[in-house]
Amino acid sequence: MKENMAIKTLIAGAGQNGSQVYNILKLDPRIEVVAFLDDDPGKKDSEKYGLPVAGEVAQAAALAEKMGATGAIAAMGNNYLRAKINQQLAEAGLGIVSAIHPHTFIDDTASIGEGAIVEMGVMIHPHARLGRNVFVGGSTVIAHDCIIGNHVLLGGGVVFGGDVQVGDYCTLGVGSILQPHLRIGCNVITGIGAVVVKDLPDNSVAVGVPAKVIRHQDPPPAL
Ligand SMILES: CC(C)(COP(=O)(O)OP(=O)(O)OC[C@H]1O[C@@H](n2cnc3c(N)ncnc32)[C@H](O)[C@@H]1OP(=O)(O)O)[C@@H](O)C(=O)NCCC(=O)NCCS
Repeated sequence: MKENMAIKTLIAGAGQNGSQVYNILKLDPRIEVVAFLDDDPGKKDSEKYGLPVAGEVAQAAALAEKMGATGAIAAMGNNYLRAKINQQLAEAGLGIVSAIHPHTFIDDTASIGEGAIVEMGVMIHPHARLGRNVFVGGSTVIAHDCIIGNHVLLGGGVVFGGDVQVGDYCTLGVGSILQPHLRIGCNVITGIGAVVVKDLPDNSVAVGVPAKVIRHQDPPPAL
């Protein structure tokens, strides 16, 4: 049951991640999703969960006014796009909401920035800090004192030891395991099932058990 004053909200991204976010937000009485936005011309004038795919992100301000929406969230796996689109939505005057599944445990000493997508079964332990626009896959365990940067994606089932730091724009693959006290740079990717036992430098891609760097990648463009 939605509250009378529920924030009318737009989801930018009408793909699989948009579905994930919708299915979390439908459980949140403080938020009422009223439409999706998507720049894919193939999705124009379509419907998703009985709601309109109302237009492109560039039209967010006008569409929000028409629909009485004051909230929005970008829903895509690409870290740079999620950050960019949340920035565009904020510039359109919308408040960036978070989609946090009710079946997660977030310690009251932990913190998490706006624009978060947190799937079911996630555990965030005391004094962990997560930045803006993070996407945390189901069953991930973020141990005490971890610091996760902005625009980071943690695949499902990632397990952190305590006091690990992860820079902006990282993608840690499904089932990655991180030894306590590690420092992971910015824009790092780990493959599925990686067991990370050493610090990883900025812009590196690491796979395997123990994880080894297999290549480097370009940093993301400035927002
Ligand atoms: C790590 C990753 C980015 C590598 O992709 P890539 O750069 O295209 O590299 P390739 O698939 O060509 O693999 C390069 C080598 O690494 C190996 N490799 C790739 N992923 C691996 C993994 N998870 N574990 C062990 N080895 C792996 C490949 O077998 C290949 O070895 P080879 O050179 O001996 O043939 C990708 O495999 C991956 O796992 N991405 C994360 C996906 C994910 O979980 N996303 C978040 C949830 S949606």
